[in-house]
Amino acid sequence: MTQSEQGATCPVVRFEFSPVATPGESFFAQLDELRREHRVFRSDEAQGYWVLARNDLIVEALQHPETFSSVATVPTMPDPPFRWIPIMLDPPGHTKWRRLLGGWFSPGRTAKLETPVREMCTTLVDGLVDGGRCEFVADFAARFPTTIFLQIIGLPVSELSRFMAWEDKILHFDSETDPDYSQMMTAMNEVTAMFSSLIAERRADPSRRADDIISASLDWQIDGRPVSDDDVLSCLLLLFMAGLDTVASQLSFMLHHLATHDRDRRALVEDPNRIPGAVEEMLRAHAIVRVGRKVARDVDFHGCPMKAGDMVSMPLAFASRDEDVFQDATTVDIDRPSFANLAFGAGPHRCLGSHLARRELVVALEEWHRRIPEYQVTPGAQVLEHAGNGVYGVDSLPLSW
Ligand code: HEM
Repeated sequence: MTQSEQGATCPVVRFEFSPVATPGESFFAQLDELRREHRVFRSDEAQGYWVLARNDLIVEALQHPETFSSVATVPTMPDPPFRWIPIMLDPPGHTKWRRLLGGWFSPGRTAKLETPVREMCTTLVDGLVDGGRCEFVADFAARFPTTIFLQIIGLPVSELSRFMAWEDKILHFDSETDPDYSQMMTAMNEVTAMFSSLIAERRADPSRRADDIISASLDWQIDGRPVSDDDVLSCLLLLFMAGLDTVASQLSFMLHHLATHDRDRRALVEDPNRIPGAVEEMLRAHAIVRVGRKVARDVDFHGCPMKAGDMVSMPLAFASRDEDVFQDATTVDIDRPSFANLAFGAGPHRCLGSHLARRELVVALEEWHRRIPEYQVTPGAQVLEHAGNGVYGVDSLPLSW
């Protein structure tokens, strides 16, 4: 990351990351450097976009969809040829979709998944424990949340690897690896075609319907009218992307922290009741999502002249590691008193899956540490992180015990 031009209030900054990180030198440390220097800056990537780097600015923008619209959410794509639902809708249309979907991810419904989530986790850890080592991302993190999520949506678990490959193309692209977005668009079309044929099958043969979102979507109505097929498909595609790799990325950052911080790990092994608090703190310290918005009207935002049509990026880690709000913000303190967690966003689009995600993360840490209490990053192995367009993640985390 190099600064290429310095202006008075809104400097232009190269906002890029080295793809390889070693313990202690991750994307988050790179973000900290930038945040300490700037409140708002402009990235010169692609057509250029604003970047909000402080907690108060990000919270304010997320709570004002009339100025910071969700019609485009990828900062390098101001005019996307797609409309993911509900994430790319503004109120009031957005609110109707939240009502439609809310029940599937409510605390009550999520609590009922506790047993299958725990069973899935136990099976995976049992399969690894005797081997003494694993590549945590592929062997655990990518598999554990996915199976549960596919069942909620109504997708065949046997096709997991195909789904992961699609998802990688859709979410982990950048302007270098997929400059014209053709791979991303092809993958999105393939996922949509799959959903389309599953819907057609269930329409033709009601006996194939089950207690899952695809089946429920056949009867979705908004304002008393059936939801169009295009909108149903846009929503299923978004759910597919939102649920498949966020938990995996978050869990990998957590295990990396615990593998490299013996005191924290041992504290959780000795007293698993501390795990929920530790999960909140690690979500805060390693907030993975970079939220994007499109400016809806000309505005002077804290000294920065934003024009209608400009794009804005808000990496939530800027907000959640802001020293003006959190003491020792860049340090993981598993005893930190409770706080408002921005890792799941804020405002109308706050994460719909946060209850499910939290439960999965807590159960994963409980079951993993019950069987594998002592582990480390495999000596000599490289930990790889990626900064896909919307989510920071870990590509490879070799652990041994
Ligand atoms: C630790 C894991 C997760 C994190 C950190 C996370 C984070 C976020 C964030 C920051 C947003 C707001 C985006 C914006 O404002 O533009 C969001 C939205 C969303 N998330 Fe999550 N998420 C996680 C897991 C999940 C899961 C498991 C699901 C399950 C389906 C899910 C479903 C959604 C949906 C549907 C939205 C769009 C909500 C809306 O537009 O109203 N997320 N998530």
